[in-house]
Amino acid sequence: MARINDHYLKLSAGYLFPEIGRRVREFQQANPDADVIRLGIGDVVLPLPQAIRDAMHRAIDELGTDEGFRGYGPEQGYDFLREAIAAHEFGARGVEISPDEIFVSDGSKCDSGNIQEIFAASARVAIPDPVYPVYLDTNVMAGRSGPAGEDGRYAGIVYLPCTAENGFVPEPPSEPVDLVYLCSPNNPTGTAATRGELERWVAYARESGAVLLYDAAYEAFISDPELPHSIYEIPGASEVAIEFRSFSKKAGFTGVRCGFVVVPAGLRGRDADGGEVEIQALWDRRHSTKFNGASYPVQAGAAACYGEAGRAQLAANIDYYMQNARVIRDGMRDLGLTVHGGVDAPYAWIRTPDGIGSWDFFDRLLNQAHVVGTPGAGFGSCGEGYLRLSAFGRREQVEQAVERIRTRL
Ligand code: MLT
Repeated sequence: MARINDHYLKLSAGYLFPEIGRRVREFQQANPDADVIRLGIGDVVLPLPQAIRDAMHRAIDELGTDEGFRGYGPEQGYDFLREAIAAHEFGARGVEISPDEIFVSDGSKCDSGNIQEIFAASARVAIPDPVYPVYLDTNVMAGRSGPAGEDGRYAGIVYLPCTAENGFVPEPPSEPVDLVYLCSPNNPTGTAATRGELERWVAYARESGAVLLYDAAYEAFISDPELPHSIYEIPGASEVAIEFRSFSKKAGFTGVRCGFVVVPAGLRGRDADGGEVEIQALWDRRHSTKFNGASYPVQAGAAACYGEAGRAQLAANIDYYMQNARVIRDGMRDLGLTVHGGVDAPYAWIRTPDGIGSWDFFDRLLNQAHVVGTPGAGFGSCGEGYLRLSAFGRREQVEQAVERIRTRL
């Protein structure tokens, strides 16, 4: 029999969202008439904007002609998309990122999971708690941790608590680490880091030599004009940070699949002999070895996000979801619950009432209100005592969910 990767056996349970899916399926089998409202996984519900569909149709028609047919594309993404991203996502905010520093992919779940491969197996990793589980699980799979303890925390991982007291923005670790994952606007807490907080992290990384792995998948949902959308808005960040971005939530691409990662040319790591190495070259090597590029129609659709019609249609969808967030926030607060987030991110982070555990509150919501949330404890031990509600739903369902929680709990 083939020897397996033992590190997988350390993973404590199934991946969070399939586990929730399993519980909901079980509930539905037992209660076939229950009309379940899903505000658990952050999956978009609004149809793909017209400008994106038009661009994808055109791209498909091109592929059906002799002149327009394309086979393999550049692994890093087509120039038309990389240039549009550089101009609209960064240039427009006064940040200079070259198209060569942008690597288009099939989504930031893969990018944020794969990035650890280009760092040493012995790299010490710091992870916020609570956290998007991909960062942690992929490092466990790669052998950067010991086994999980009773509290679910893995030996060897440095956890950075994100609590109401620190506004859910972690403090830099006191012990040396090589990699720090940060996510802003934050999944799951729905809060966003200020410029000052990001400046502190960049200063820390520059001083300590750590690399920041900055997940900005939800930046389009920021409403406060003072908040940075990219870590590169902080001077000096391009020498210490990699940034992940996604079309999933802002453009309705959770099923279409497209994202990108920025690996700046000035970012360096060191090899076993202490020599400086360009991290971008390593990522380019990995990306072109393991990935054959996002499909042409998908990249054409992504580029349409930056046209005039695309921008307006995306803004309308984002506004719709953020109105949902407001309905959730106001509704839960009216019930006397403490709610964080939901202003600069499409997630509301709700303190469970009367000290009820996250999974118990999840079960109560499902059984009594037929509403699915995500238990905070599923994102880490500091998430215990919280439940996340996603604003990605139809307005009438969101309103109904709030009403059911009000009347049935
Ligand atoms: C979530 O609900 O946290 C996200 O949908 C997960 C993801 O983007 O992979």
